[in-house]
Amino acid sequence: MNTKQIIAEKMATLVPELDQETILNLLETPKNSDMGDLAFPVFSLAKVLRKAPQLIAAELAEKIDASNFEKVEAVGPYINFFLDKASISSQVLSQVITAGSDYAAQTIGQGHNVAIDMSSPNIAKPFSIGHLRSTVIGDSLANIFEKIGYKAVKINHLGDWGKQFGMLIVAYKKWGNKEAVKAHPINELLKLYVRINAEAEEHPELDEEARDWFRKLEAGDEEAMVLWQWFRDESLVEFNRLYDELDVTFDSYNGEAFYNDKMDEVVNILTEKGLLQESQGAQVVNLEKYGIEHPALIKKSDGATLYITRDLAAALYRKRTYNFAKAIYVVGNEQSAHFKQLKAVLNEMGYAWSDDITHVPFGLVTKEGKKLSTRKGNVILLEPTIAEAINRAQTQIDGKNPNLSNKEAVAHAVGVGAIKFYDLKTDRLNGYDFDLEAMVSFEGETGPYVQYAHARIQSILRKADFTPSVNQVYSLNDAESWEIIKLIQDFPRIIIRAADNFEPSIVAKFAIRLAQAFNKYYAHTRILDENPERDSRLALSYATATVLKEALRLLGVEAPDEM
Ligand code: ARG
Repeated sequence: MNTKQIIAEKMATLVPELDQETILNLLETPKNSDMGDLAFPVFSLAKVLRKAPQLIAAELAEKIDASNFEKVEAVGPYINFFLDKASISSQVLSQVITAGSDYAAQTIGQGHNVAIDMSSPNIAKPFSIGHLRSTVIGDSLANIFEKIGYKAVKINHLGDWGKQFGMLIVAYKKWGNKEAVKAHPINELLKLYVRINAEAEEHPELDEEARDWFRKLEAGDEEAMVLWQWFRDESLVEFNRLYDELDVTFDSYNGEAFYNDKMDEVVNILTEKGLLQESQGAQVVNLEKYGIEHPALIKKSDGATLYITRDLAAALYRKRTYNFAKAIYVVGNEQSAHFKQLKAVLNEMGYAWSDDITHVPFGLVTKEGKKLSTRKGNVILLEPTIAEAINRAQTQIDGKNPNLSNKEAVAHAVGVGAIKFYDLKTDRLNGYDFDLEAMVSFEGETGPYVQYAHARIQSILRKADFTPSVNQVYSLNDAESWEIIKLIQDFPRIIIRAADNFEPSIVAKFAIRLAQAFNKYYAHTRILDENPERDSRLALSYATATVLKEALRLLGVEAPDEM
């Protein structure tokens, strides 16, 4: 039972006028811990009892059963509760020491799957910063859901189908060079794509040719398939290089093409249920009753299917294959309308599980305050940018710890961790400015700052040659360690909140607060000095490092033991 509940229970027996739930909601956490750990404002009681608030507070503070607390005192119209630091710290430390990295693991999701549609770049196009956000956020959400017992299924819904592949085939057949594509696949294919789009403006027959080739592709024509497969394979080699750097893996690379033979079913169901309407030769589903102005376009007049048709087939397939309890789509804000349509069509089709689908959008990244735009040359090329982050990390480590043995691995963990952490600490819906210097800094609310706090603790533990024992009682009651204990005690709830809100930033902000609290403690306390509390201080350090490392792991960020 948590402390708020303990207080609510005790109060409820004294004041039958309020029920436990109401008391629970009224409890506040004072800004200043001199005013206790929790406070109850008595104003609502004053109204019912028609007594002066000060008087009520004083009477209740006198009467309440104060076991579990250091003290309970009335200050003006508040009852302030001071928790028993010694007994709570010993409970919390023993929990962390016993569970290790499993501390805060929960079983809420046991037996349930969560399907996470994430990353999902487009074949033959550059991997954008939006795809990076989706990759990093999706990966962290997978870790967070697994921590509370779900099985996460990470799906890379590659953009590998559509008329643009007809365009590419035509362009390649006209101007393509095999060696060049092999050497720099995405670059070369993008050039071909840009060129054919430009030329098609003056030669609309190219458009027609492209449509024909895509039709052939949809029909399984051998030449078309071979080229398509090759473009896809080459692009994936590049994408996988990036995924390796980021240390992100997927359970499925079934992209849009995978659903080519699974869309008839969708169209048939829609037809049977009488949901398809003809509109200028195209087949659409009207969604006005959902307040959605634009109908969902299922089939074009030439019979070609669309992005949403494939997403409908994918949703059906995923429900059948993974029987998900939740299906989430980590995709930029700009696709909100698409996902509203997707959910509404599934609901029209009679699938109650459409309620389990959530679009998890995120905001835009800018560079030097300006929107990114390939056309204006304001781009972030991911591979060189990651290399640069690692470089900067290496320089800082060289300055701090020139004799470090596995410098390269540490620089990689710090550089890549810095980019991920900066992204994840931002409230998902907000964008941010891509500022490598701020990201890799060891100061401020950054990944390296948290990693450094963790490494510093590991170094303290090494110096002390300390390993905690599950049989020993550790306990502390000073104000600085108390801040740390309260945070560690809160970790399980933090994870639940992050999962409920699909919001890794809740975990990232927690990690920053915990690192800050430890650094403050470290500045005030000589942990290694001979002292009766020495072992408890070391146990606190150990527990902090364990939780910091686990919080970072949930974010997909490594925590080196030395840096
Ligand atoms: N390939 C798409 C894009 O880059 C993202 C796909 C998102 N997932 C989905 N199931 N629609 O914009």
